[in-house]
Amino acid sequence: MPRLLVTGGAGFIGANFVHHWLERHPDDRLIVLDALTYAGNLANLEPVKDRSAFRFVRGDIRDTALVEELLREEGLDTVVHFAAESHVDRSIHGPDAFIETNVQGTHSMLKAARKVWLEGRTVPSHRFHHVSTDEVYGSLAPDDPAFHERTPYAPNSPYSASKAASDHLVRAYHHTYGLAVTTSNCSNNYGPFHFPEKLIPLMIVNLLHGKELPIYGDGRNVRDWLHVSDHCRGIELILQDGRPGEVYNIGGGVESENLTLVETLCRVADAAFTEQKDLGSRFPDCPAARGGKASGLIRFVKDRPGHDRRYAIDCGKIERELGYRAAVTLEAGLRETFNWYLANEWWWRAVMDGSYERWIDTHYR
Ligand code: NAD
Ligand code: TYD
Repeated sequence: MPRLLVTGGAGFIGANFVHHWLERHPDDRLIVLDALTYAGNLANLEPVKDRSAFRFVRGDIRDTALVEELLREEGLDTVVHFAAESHVDRSIHGPDAFIETNVQGTHSMLKAARKVWLEGRTVPSHRFHHVSTDEVYGSLAPDDPAFHERTPYAPNSPYSASKAASDHLVRAYHHTYGLAVTTSNCSNNYGPFHFPEKLIPLMIVNLLHGKELPIYGDGRNVRDWLHVSDHCRGIELILQDGRPGEVYNIGGGVESENLTLVETLCRVADAAFTEQKDLGSRFPDCPAARGGKASGLIRFVKDRPGHDRRYAIDCGKIERELGYRAAVTLEAGLRETFNWYLANEWWWRAVMDGSYERWIDTHYR
């Protein structure tokens, strides 16, 4: 029975992974280590916080001694490493935090794992799974084949460069020291608990308030959208049957231009306002509340510097070797995600109006 350390488990994908894992493996010990930066949210872990198998530790992945202590004292044999600075726009305006957390932080995790597992021999077998991104492969032209595991690295933003550096360190710790690592490079995730600075949740929250929907450049940039539940299943398959030292790409198999994606989301919103009569009074500023169309809020704005044109993932390897298949279609996933934001208004309001930050200040600082 694995005993897991999940870093970044209070963030978007990490929290979804914690719920996924504990639903399927309720008796496994699972410790979340998270620094609770602006992107970490304890409310994401509320449903599991009182389970005996679960423990939350507030701490920094750069605190190597803390990580060593957790691995040793809890007899942990599996690390699932999500913790990172994750937003490209933030990396453009302030790259330092990305180097500190994504590069130095990952190295700190690897050093701790090596010390405890390889030198201390605390457990008979171990696994260090590193969660990375397709952005390390750079940008594709319209007719280029999708990224596969042997596509050369060509990161373009400080974010993707920091993730690329962390991937190389993970690889090096396997080759040099024999650490049993796996890495997954996945495409753009979406789903519950997604911080409203990323495209999909930002558009949902803005359209509900009748605020403009900013589309960078011409809106023709393409992303491969992966529902977070499919991503979590992919990681579970890698932890169970993935081969140490290997890299697996995980994608949703759905490419969409940003403009098309936002237009689809607008149609989902318009339909929801027609079907759910209370929405008009809950969100009176949304155009759909007055019989209008949310797509009327779309505005083209200045492009992101260095904006990658297209990402697409070839997930043939994880499909062939581990039986992975993305199960959630983009249209159904967008509908489900939109409904999650409607049902969890308290969650995004707390994140956005600063009340959650104030609560953390009182309880955790
Ligand atoms: P997120 O920003 O929502 O969450 C990151 C979490 O890490 C937060 O809980 C934060 O508090 C924590 N954290 C940050 N710095 C820390 C530190 N120094 N010590 C401990 N905890 C720290 O990110 P996410 O979207 O959930 O992404 C998770 C992982 O998946 C990241 O490694 C990211 O690069 C990768 N990824 C994300 C996407 C995506 O679409 N969101 C796509 C590909 C890969
Ligand atoms: P984002 O969610 O930031 O993910 P990433 O940059 O990691 O792919 O952005 C997804 C796409 O949406 C990307 O092409 C940038 C674009 N975008 C906008 O057009 N407007 C926005 O307000 C945001 C946040 C993103």
